[in-house]
Amino acid sequence: MFIRLVYVVAFLAIATQGADHNIILDCKRVSFCNTFRSKTPNENTTYKANLESLDIHGGVAKINLTNQDEDTLILQISALEGDKFRVTIEELDSRRYRLKDVLLEEPGVVKIKYSKVAYGELVLAESEVSKNRVVVQGNPFSIQFWKDDSIQLIIDGTKLIMEKNDQDEPFTLSMKFPNAQQIYGIHEHADALALRNTINSTSDPYRLRNLDVSGYELNSPMSLYGAIPLLYGHGSNGTSGIFLHNAAQQWYDLNENEVYIMVQSAMLDLFVLLGPKPKDVLKQYASLTGVSHMPQQWVLGYHQSRWNYDNQTDVEEVIANMDKNNFPMDVIWLDIEYTNGRRYFTWNPENFSNPVGMQKNISSTNRKLITIIDPHIKVDDDYKVYTGARDAKLFVKNSDGSDFQGVCWPGMSSYIDFLNPTARAYYAQWYSYENFIGSTEVLGGIWNDMNEPSVFDDALEKTLPMDALHIGNVKHRDIHNIYGLLHTMSTHLGLLTRDNATKRPFILTRSHFAGTQRYAAIWTGDNDATWGQLKVSYAQCLNANIMGIPFCGSDIGGFTNQPTEQLLQRWYQSAAWTPFYREHSTEFSARREPYVYPENVQNVIRNAMQLRYKHIPLWYTLFYEHTRYAEPVLRPLFYEYPEDEKVFKIDDQLFVGKDVMVRAVHEENATSVNLYLPGDDRTIWYSISNNKSYEGGHLRNIPVDINAIPVFYRGGSIIFRKDIPRRNTVEMKDDCYTAYVNLDVNGKAQGTIYLDDLTSFRYKNLKDYNYARANFEELDSKFTLRPIDDSKGKYNITLCDIVVYKPKSNEVIEGLFSQEIYTKNKQGKSLKDIKIKLWETIELEL
Ligand code: NOJ
Repeated sequence: MFIRLVYVVAFLAIATQGADHNIILDCKRVSFCNTFRSKTPNENTTYKANLESLDIHGGVAKINLTNQDEDTLILQISALEGDKFRVTIEELDSRRYRLKDVLLEEPGVVKIKYSKVAYGELVLAESEVSKNRVVVQGNPFSIQFWKDDSIQLIIDGTKLIMEKNDQDEPFTLSMKFPNAQQIYGIHEHADALALRNTINSTSDPYRLRNLDVSGYELNSPMSLYGAIPLLYGHGSNGTSGIFLHNAAQQWYDLNENEVYIMVQSAMLDLFVLLGPKPKDVLKQYASLTGVSHMPQQWVLGYHQSRWNYDNQTDVEEVIANMDKNNFPMDVIWLDIEYTNGRRYFTWNPENFSNPVGMQKNISSTNRKLITIIDPHIKVDDDYKVYTGARDAKLFVKNSDGSDFQGVCWPGMSSYIDFLNPTARAYYAQWYSYENFIGSTEVLGGIWNDMNEPSVFDDALEKTLPMDALHIGNVKHRDIHNIYGLLHTMSTHLGLLTRDNATKRPFILTRSHFAGTQRYAAIWTGDNDATWGQLKVSYAQCLNANIMGIPFCGSDIGGFTNQPTEQLLQRWYQSAAWTPFYREHSTEFSARREPYVYPENVQNVIRNAMQLRYKHIPLWYTLFYEHTRYAEPVLRPLFYEYPEDEKVFKIDDQLFVGKDVMVRAVHEENATSVNLYLPGDDRTIWYSISNNKSYEGGHLRNIPVDINAIPVFYRGGSIIFRKDIPRRNTVEMKDDCYTAYVNLDVNGKAQGTIYLDDLTSFRYKNLKDYNYARANFEELDSKFTLRPIDDSKGKYNITLCDIVVYKPKSNEVIEGLFSQEIYTKNKQGKSLKDIKIKLWETIELEL
């Protein structure tokens, strides 16, 4: 009770004031950051590369770096398959931690067979004619990475510092992207997508250290819950990137196209991604850390959550009220209070006395349940999850070898050592139906929260101490940023095993790292009910997407405080275009389910939700395309239009795939909004919000009212929708599709559609899916569907109708467009009666 009271008081203070700077440290209060920010090596400590020491072994180049103090470092450079290089630097006697668990596999090395020293420079490449080359300069020491005839990245070796002291093994790394006009990346911050300069400014550097930050601030380089050390240097002439494979605390100082990185410990292990376009950088990164698997389709529907639904009757009533008021919904969530005293894998015996009955009820309405499971374990001799882990020595340890104990939701808790594969397997088996008594298949997914991990100790920045120990005496300091990733690995294993690998697990995680996409979706944590937080939610999820994590969303309405009705409506409209669509709020806010609002507000929310559901086939297809091509599901404008400087800073507009563009309305009382329509005079944008078509390449001011936000279809695209309103995705399963054909200036359009069994891994293991391309040409009114590959699926669809959008005149840069609706083919046969087998080519003459 006492703990709860303390937390409530602290929480209320934070919710009104923003993040607590006494708890969350700035660079000045972190010794290595404070020192390195203003320190440059002197005559004695500056390294030069001894090019004559070159030793190529197994295709990997090794070079000694020395300084006048007679310190020696070993530089290793390898060329990797798919336009990447890898660089490591370490001491001769290095004991630095080498990160495991993050990469998909050891990357394939392309052997360096060509080397040449001339004029104080060493050139390394696979062969003399290779387009990808590395040039190492001895003194002053630098490393240039070339692709074709362009230098993509230069590491400035004169700024390299590598130290060891009692606490840390910090190092710095300095680099420049010669082609870049803008730096993007290093998730997760509540800031603009286009990162700001922090050098020569009053700002702190951007920090990566996963922390439980309540009431986070906007436009801030402060760390949040996740860390992805991936960065793009982007310009209209080209893009390249780096991925620092290191999970310790790190800070990034930026200046135009320069980056100065300060890291607390562990290996300097850098991947250089040569681009030359944003798409290439992302693919190169995904080749290292992987892509997400398909979500089950119901996950793409609407999620209703709250901290907390009080009891099983409350849960049933929420669902009944959603149905009564015609709000579609797929999932209801339970936060920590469903447990017995915050002992995860148990149920509160009073309020959730009949979990199986509750799940039956949820299932009878074709809904799923998701419950929270956090990584801290209550210290309690009568709690088997605890005693089992304690006895098997699976908890994180203090530096003296005893189990670490700290306070979190349940009171005194210990923390599973997820670095240990045995601990991961141990925790995973608690998800089984036998062990998580009262759980059934209706429990469709798991919410892993507080996994930075959070420890309620302000002196520790609310997390584990740096010197806590993991298996093999690995210091927590060295792996801090992957704790959440490891937690989700374990949960993923648990869910896979629970269902004999027949179902695609769904996990929502707060903490994340590079590679999280293989296991989980993320949300933006404890945001606040403000307009600025609505705006930043787009920047955050766009950033997550170019960091390889497609499944992202924000708490609709803001987690803390109470949104105005207008803000809530705008949030429902905007969030309908982010992959994860969930309303969630704290226990300190008033109830916020859509049906508690007046009829006019309900109507707006319902329309936004229904628009989301109409596009479920699009979302599903885009997730498939992510698994197949490593393309993000949400895309910033610069990703699609990398040469157009006008889009570099836009982050309140986004692309869903490449064909739908959305502008969030994040301004209070807006009657019009400014937005940019990319492309040129041959690009057409069809607004589905006001039925006008627009020419590309212009800034526009577009009138808006409360009923909709601007959404455009790209001319030249075909978008498959399911337009019949239903209560959830399950009940939409057999509905017919409407194909929206959005003609380009040549009267043509193309799109894709993907189908599978919606739940299993058969698409992956047995090619049990169908993936087809649709084509339409105005000239002969022919709509064609052709399989894209030789998949083995036998899925078919019917079309309710085909809607063709076309501008009224080619000249107009803004005007109402015409719509033709086809419900029959040329022979007069209703489209609904034509079964389209997606594994065969079919031509419909309209
Ligand atoms: C913190 C999470 O960010 C929030 O969403 C959740 O409601 C609380 N923990 C309680 O579990």
